[in-house]
Formats: sequence, C-alpha cells, structure tokens
Amino acid sequence: MLNIVILAAGKGTRMHSDTPKVLHALAGQPLLQHVLETAVQLAPAKMCVVYGHGGEVVPKAMAEYAASFVLQEPQLGTGHAVQQAMPELMDDSVTLVLYGDVPLIQPATLKQLLQYPDTLSLLTLRMDDPTGYGRIVRDSAEKVTSIVEQKDATPEQRAICEVNTGILAAPTHLLRSWLAKLGNKNSQGEYYLTDIVAMAVAQGIEVSTTQPAQSWEVMGINSKVQLAELERIWQQEQALRLLTQGVTLADPARLDVRGKLVCGRDVEIDVGCIFEGEVHLANKVKVGAYTVIRNSIIEAGTHIAPFSHIDSSEVGANCSIGPYARLRPGTKLHQDVHIGNFVEVKNSEIAKGSKANHLSYIGDSTVGSRVNVGAGTITCNYDGANKHRTIIEDDVFIGSDTQLIAPVTIKRGSTIGAGSTITKDTAESTLTLSRAKQVSVAGWQRPVKQTK
Ligand code: UD1
Ligand code: CA
Repeated sequence: MLNIVILAAGKGTRMHSDTPKVLHALAGQPLLQHVLETAVQLAPAKMCVVYGHGGEVVPKAMAEYAASFVLQEPQLGTGHAVQQAMPELMDDSVTLVLYGDVPLIQPATLKQLLQYPDTLSLLTLRMDDPTGYGRIVRDSAEKVTSIVEQKDATPEQRAICEVNTGILAAPTHLLRSWLAKLGNKNSQGEYYLTDIVAMAVAQGIEVSTTQPAQSWEVMGINSKVQLAELERIWQQEQALRLLTQGVTLADPARLDVRGKLVCGRDVEIDVGCIFEGEVHLANKVKVGAYTVIRNSIIEAGTHIAPFSHIDSSEVGANCSIGPYARLRPGTKLHQDVHIGNFVEVKNSEIAKGSKANHLSYIGDSTVGSRVNVGAGTITCNYDGANKHRTIIEDDVFIGSDTQLIAPVTIKRGSTIGAGSTITKDTAESTLTLSRAKQVSVAGWQRPVKQTK
C-alpha cells in the first residue's frame, strides 16, 4: 500500500508574486497539479499535501483531488514538514515524499524508486555542478551512509557529485520512528528530512538509490527564470514526442502544448500554435500558424488556416476553417463545412457541405446541409434577456448582410434576399425579402458646406 506526501509549504519568495509558488503554471497547469496528476497514476491509498502559511488558496485550487491538506506553520524544515503529515498516514504502507515545486517527475521513475519497499529508497542524481544540493555520502563499499547538506558539508564532501533530489520512499512505520528522533542542530537550525538516512544506516536498514530517466524530472522551481527554463524543456519534449510519432512541425521550438495533444498520421502544424487541454487532430489535419485550439476534436483532412481560435468544438472531416475563424464552445461542424475569415460560431451545429465564408455570427443555431450563409449574416440570438435558436434547413441560401431574429426557422430550399431582417419563419423554396424597394431620386442635390 502506498501513501504519498507532497511538500508544498515553501514561501517561494524568489517568485516575487502574491500567488503561492506551487500554483504558478507550467504548461498551463499549476505546478502542484502536475505532481498530483503523477501521484494519482501511482494509485496511492492516501495523498497528503503539506501547505504553508498564506497558502490557503492551495487546498481550494486542488479541491478536485482526493488528498488531505495539512498546514505547516511555522516552516522548520523538510523533516518538520513530513512530520505534519504523519497523523494522516498508515503504518502498514510505504510513504513516498514528493515536492509541489518539482512538477515533472514521471510515474515510471517513481515506480522504479518504489521497487525496494523494505528499504529507505532515495532518488539521486549525478550533477556536473552539485552546488547547493545535499550530497550522497557513500562508504568504501559504495553503500550510502548519510546525506550532508551543502552548508554542513566538508570540502571533501562538497566534491561529491551525486546529489539528493529530495524525493524518497520508506516504510511508513520506520519513517515515523525516525522523524520522531529528528533534531535541528545544524547550520540552518532546521529539521532535515535527510537526517533519516544516517538513522536508517545505524539501524541496519538498507538504503537503496535510483536515478530519474531524465534529469529535468527532478528540476525544482524557485524563480520565474527556472519556471521559464523548465517550460521550454517540457515544450521541447512535447515537440520531440510529436516529431517522433511522425507529426510535421514547421519549427519544434515554436509550439506550445498545454495539456494533451493526440495526432494521427501526416498531421502538419505551422509555427506559433497553442494547444490547450485535450486536443485530437486526426490524419492529414493541417493547422496554420498562430492558431489556438483547446479541448477540441478535428477530424481527418481538415485544414485550419492561420490565426484561428477553436474552443471546445468538434470539427468534421475535410472542413476548411479560417484564416481568422473563431469556433466557440458547443460548435459541431459535420464534414466539408467551410468557415471563413471573421466568422464566429457558438453553440451551433452545421451539417455537411455548408459554408459561411465571410464576416458572420452563427450562434445557438442548427444549420442543415448545403446551406450558403452570405457575408455579414448575423443570427440575432439574444433579446437582451434570453437566448433563442435559429434553424436553417437544408439547401437554404442566405443573402449577404442578413439578420435572422431568433427564434426563427428558415425552411428547406428557401432563399433570403441580401440585406434582409427576418423576423418570421419562411416557407419552403420561397424567396423572402424584407428590405425597402430601391428608389432613385432624380436631380438630388448633395448638401454643401455652410460658409460662416
Ligand atoms: C532539500 C534537501 C537537499 C536536496 C534539495 C533538492 C533537506 C534538508 N535538504 O534542500 O538535500 O538536495 O532539497 O532540491 O531536505 N519545504 C516545506 N517546509 C519546510 C521546508 C521545505 O514544505 O519547512 C518544502 C519546500 O517548499 C520545497 C522543498 O520542501 O518544495 C525543499 O525545500 P528547500 O528549502 O528548497 O530544501 P533545500 O534546502 O533546497
Ligand atoms: Ca531548494
């Protein structure tokens, strides 16, 4: 059985922000949420987040997770932080300690760390420059004997390149007994979690070590500089993953995936695109430059021209979208639909082969097949208090600059003359016009400027 403690009480002074450090976003998601998502994948019996003074917004922000939140106040060190969580943990479990500001730790690495459940299991890393980290001290038989913090280390110990990432796992009942014995007689006057290593060794409990698959997994965030660096590393990883799968990226350095992007075969993505939440791009989809897509599904063969925004929508196969198109939540386009420049669609379904190519608003509408929506057409769905639906049946032709005052139904095969304001349902296969008759006034004099 697994218990997970996530330390998230640090002030994050160097972020220079009113937001608690662990709520700053990496790839569009709070740092702590990354850790919780990873933790959930290990199916723990218990999760406990240790948060700090001023961080009351942290439990609120993460309320959707089945974790308990304990306040550490004051913050007297990493050992003291884990102590606060102990009442929440079960003796017959293994406790894994993670950090709310180390967001990219991967489940595979943690599963490896948890392969030695009877030991004190440490995640360590060899670094070219170990400055600032706790060093892993080993004896002549290469067995770990202790962890010594930078500030307490001798010059010989400072030369050690194997560092403590902070992440560790231990049988909970042992951890409980060790934490009870922690002191704070060190250069920082803190209760060091790392002191449990020497205790385990003294007790004859084996100390095992594991390394992360990639070093970025254990990178911590203390400043906006480090946050930006890790963001780039993560985005490069996403780009590499997509390229490896066969996706064409115009420039892997100019792509941002803030969530999960799933691509079919022969997908092409131009520069500057942002994908948020869960986005599916089916085979042969092309995404033009500077397009933003969030929580949407784009079916095979659809081309999206530059500067389009698609949010919580379903786009069918072989559609043509944009440039400068906006699909808002609740849009469902069937196949072969064309949505052109400066067309906004919201909470509407548009059937096969229909087109709205220029400057239109289609909201709360049901549009049939083979419909042509002329330039400048507006569905007037809002009466100032309530929203109403517009129904446009198959084979309708709407002339340019038409207002359709909802609720209204444009019947099958009917035509609306340009410049009309339609307030009543139309009959099938008729022409409906509502504009005034054109007149020409002969001898019309234009006004002339008055001289003062
Ligand atoms: C700690 C380790 C060090 C390791 C390094 C890796 C100890 C004594 N040292 O050092 O061996 O190389 O991490 O980055 O554990 N925290 C709390 N409450 C506290 C103190 C810290 O929640 O009272 C949290 C912080 O928010 C942070 C983490 O614990 O997420 C590490 O704390 P930090 O002060 O950065 O530890 P280091 O001194 O860097
Ligand atoms: Ca630190």
